[in-house]
Amino acid sequence: CGIVGYIGTRPASDILMEGLQKLEYRGYDSAGLATVLEGELECVRAKGKLQNLADKLAGMENPARLGIGHTRWATHGKPEEYNAHPHTDTHRRIAVVQNGIVENYRELRETLKAKGHEFRSDTDTEVIPHLIAENMKQLSAADSIEDNPFFEAVRISVNQLEGAFALAVINADYPDDLIVVRQQAPLIIGFGQGEFFCASDTPAIVPHTRAVLPLENGELAKLTPLGVEVYTFAGDRLKKRPFSLNWNPIMVEKQGFKHFMLKEIYEQPGVVRTCVETYLDTTWSSDRDTNPVTLGLADDLFTDLEHVQIVACGTSWHASLVGKYLIEQLAGIPTMVQYASEFRYSPSPLTRHTLTIGVTQSGETADTLAALEMEQKRRQATEDLALAPRMLGITNRPESSLARLVPHIIDTHAGIEIGVAATKTFIAQVMAFYFLALDLAYRRQTLKPERIEQIIEELRQMPGQIEAVLESQERYIEELAHNFSETQDFIFLGRGINFPIALEGALKLKEISYIHAEGYPAGEMKHGPIALLDAKVPVVAIAMPGTVYDKVLSNAQEAKARDAQLIGVVPLNDEEAEFTFNSLLPVPPVDELLSPILTVIPLQLLAYHIAARRGLDVDQPRNLAKSVTVE
Ligand code: G6P
Repeated sequence: CGIVGYIGTRPASDILMEGLQKLEYRGYDSAGLATVLEGELECVRAKGKLQNLADKLAGMENPARLGIGHTRWATHGKPEEYNAHPHTDTHRRIAVVQNGIVENYRELRETLKAKGHEFRSDTDTEVIPHLIAENMKQLSAADSIEDNPFFEAVRISVNQLEGAFALAVINADYPDDLIVVRQQAPLIIGFGQGEFFCASDTPAIVPHTRAVLPLENGELAKLTPLGVEVYTFAGDRLKKRPFSLNWNPIMVEKQGFKHFMLKEIYEQPGVVRTCVETYLDTTWSSDRDTNPVTLGLADDLFTDLEHVQIVACGTSWHASLVGKYLIEQLAGIPTMVQYASEFRYSPSPLTRHTLTIGVTQSGETADTLAALEMEQKRRQATEDLALAPRMLGITNRPESSLARLVPHIIDTHAGIEIGVAATKTFIAQVMAFYFLALDLAYRRQTLKPERIEQIIEELRQMPGQIEAVLESQERYIEELAHNFSETQDFIFLGRGINFPIALEGALKLKEISYIHAEGYPAGEMKHGPIALLDAKVPVVAIAMPGTVYDKVLSNAQEAKARDAQLIGVVPLNDEEAEFTFNSLLPVPPVDELLSPILTVIPLQLLAYHIAARRGLDVDQPRNLAKSVTVE
């Protein structure tokens, strides 16, 4: 979900709507606004995309200068208008927007109902305004001398909530207060001239100000026309200063592309170029005795390293699998990749001298952050120095919660990504793993300097080669996509370093086209998925020259023998491949080790064009969200 808030001198609702538009990638099941004007709360909500709310608001004059807004990704309760945020208390004086989940909402709801509070939705969020109202009542019954009982009631209430949540709260009787809360879900405050903003993510704030302050877990803040006061949940005032954000507004515009996803696919050569220029000494040669990689990480992360463990979700998990291949094959370090959501409840036994890496494009995925935090604490709790935490994050959002949680970050320089299906952030994460693996290989001398030089040279050429794939393939893939407008199932096969690319190709397709797709290691097809094959199930196989090339071609033949239509991501001008596949998606014939950077490109385009051909909402596919800040 995305939340926004405004207090200042301008009409709030326009600013809130613009903010919500920038956050729509976080969820788009329903949306709503609440404002305070002349002692009254005005709340407007609509089911579905933000446009429905905009249509409802059209023609409504609302000069209110305080308000909150929300765009929802449903957790508790169907995406209907009555479940849309903001939620209000029985007397419609207090309005709340939430991003997160209140885990103890059922018991709170029962208690509050018994006290006469009337509930109007199925959501967990609705308990919050009622709870605040109840706590205000209690404070007044106790003749409390609090100078701001509203703020105090919010503070007491958040201490009674369990779960992960970020909140923005307003009250019709307090036209000068916008209260915001953070507990395990992102919340950023923006400082303008006589006006203050809050939002789940920076794109909603940067059109107005670059001066921001991200709240930390267990903090709440009072925004008034005069300034911002930050407190702990215990009520202690904190001294905090905003900092200035580096931001390029171009990144959140479509720049003539039909969809953000297509624009972001086309940004990949530039992203890879920036990565290479930032982290690699491209003039390095094998006779030099300096490390060709400059990640700027502390040496003690790498001393006597025995294991690497990586936690991630979704596409970032696929990038991590490529990372595992690289770290194991280039640097010889055993590497484990875990789904963050699994790791947090069944962590592997502690291993010695272990580097833990969290990979996330948003830097906010709740499971990934929780897994890292748990691992950090678990290791801090042991006295054995060999088990001490060594934590590293890989992200394109260096200002995110991830960056504040772990002491070291590799910034992948991909910038913010808006299309829900990750493309440029994936390639950038993969690049980070090339650098990390090369760095480790250099330190541990597991590769000959000549081989390192060769890999650096190939990496240097990647931006141009991605451009070549985009230029030569897009039109053809657009046409090829016509063949699949009725297709219901797809299989993607790959082996070795291209197995994660098969997974990623399948994920891209299912995310945006809603076609069922499975990625499989090609050698495993015969142990199950082969039963699914017939003329109606296309098989996409990634077959790049190297250790597994012939094997993948044989696996593809096995599929062909079952009438499957075969699509090959193959090296350019390869006779063997031309003979095997019905359709070819050729890429330059690079070293197998580097091939994922190229083989993923036609698969992204294939998913994009099939979805676009089906007339689907490519950037905002149903049920998904770009940044999943709930468990
Ligand atoms: C969501 C997005 C995916 C993304 C995953 C992990 O499901 O829709 O595109 O891969 O979260 O996100 P992260 O920000 O941690 O990389």
